[in-house]
Amino acid sequence: TYVVTDNCVNCKYMDCVDVCPVDCFHEGKNFLVIDPSVCIDCGVCEPECPASAIYKDSDLPDEFVAYLDINKKLSSSWPLIKYKKDELPEAHKWDGIPNKRSYIEA
Ligand code: SF4
Ligand code: F3S
Repeated sequence: TYVVTDNCVNCKYMDCVDVCPVDCFHEGKNFLVIDPSVCIDCGVCEPECPASAIYKDSDLPDEFVAYLDINKKLSSSWPLIKYKKDELPEAHKWDGIPNKRSYIEA
């Protein structure tokens, strides 16, 4: 599966949503996650993210390994999103700030 990680938090650009062929993104208030049971590993979302927040699970940097579980858990409770909307208003301000995990609004 592919995994949405830290730099998506408070940015949520959502370019990833439009390219996914199987609709596996789920939306929270300030973060998106991928449902690992639906992702077909096509890889097209990864280069589309302006925040470079998406990784293949086998390429996850050590500091983002916790996001495997976060994507799995939150995708089971957050609603499916099929179409891109606008990014969060302060996306550019938050883009690149490290360790945003504690800001995820569940
Ligand atoms: Fe969707 Fe493909 Fe990205 Fe998986 S890798 S989330 S199937 S676009
Ligand atoms: Fe997040 Fe990047 Fe998608 S910032 S919403 S993973 S395009």
